[in-house]
Amino acid sequence: MPKLQEALDRFDALFKRAAACGLNEPSAVTVATVDADGRPSARVVLLKGYDASGFVFYTNTRSRKGLELATNPRAAMCFFWDPLMEQVRVEGAVGAVTDVEADAYWSSRHPGSRIGAWASDQSERLESRAALEARVAAYADEFGDGPVPRPPHWSGYRVAPIRIEFWRSLPSRLHERTCYLLEGGEWRVSLLNP
Ligand SMILES: Cc1cc2nc3c(=O)[nH]c(=O)nc-3n(C[C@H](O)[C@H](O)[C@H](O)COP(=O)(O)O)c2cc1C
Repeated sequence: MPKLQEALDRFDALFKRAAACGLNEPSAVTVATVDADGRPSARVVLLKGYDASGFVFYTNTRSRKGLELATNPRAAMCFFWDPLMEQVRVEGAVGAVTDVEADAYWSSRHPGSRIGAWASDQSERLESRAALEARVAAYADEFGDGPVPRPPHWSGYRVAPIRIEFWRSLPSRLHERTCYLLEGGEWRVSLLNP
């Protein structure tokens, strides 16, 4: 089996086990980006898809992370599922999802979240809670009972992996680490010291 597929199958099995644990947000993942000066920042998002082309999340493209990705289209993702004591790290180049994909996910979102995406200038300074609520009310008015289109600044990113690492807790901190690395166009797998 090709190594990337092996890694994805392993991720898929873990993700399904995590989802079966009754966790509130099994798809929560920390995403780290880097600004133009090399300063890293990290936040949690929800993973909305994964396959051989990458790991997908959705956000405001004018947010801090969006601006950082525009400058430096690379990201690191880190999953940790406490009940499993398993960690997965994914690193790679970041690209935009297609409009078709973004539209499909957008249409599955709760109506309130769609209005919220219009009303929130994510990561920008907010004058007051009341100002945000007024913007929500104004957009709710504007769109009424009609469809709420996807904002031009709201879309998804796909992290195309060049490195995927699985970490499994074992006694005496002799944890198991397995690293899948794309090197010279080929995926290689190796164990790492804990
Ligand atoms: C469990 C959880 C899930 C979240 N999911 C998302 C998400 O899918 N997309 C998103 O833009 N922000 C999500 N957020 C909010 C982000 O953590 C963050 O506050 C926001 O994206 C702004 O980040 P930025 O200023 O670094 O761009 C989530 C937060 C938590 C705690």
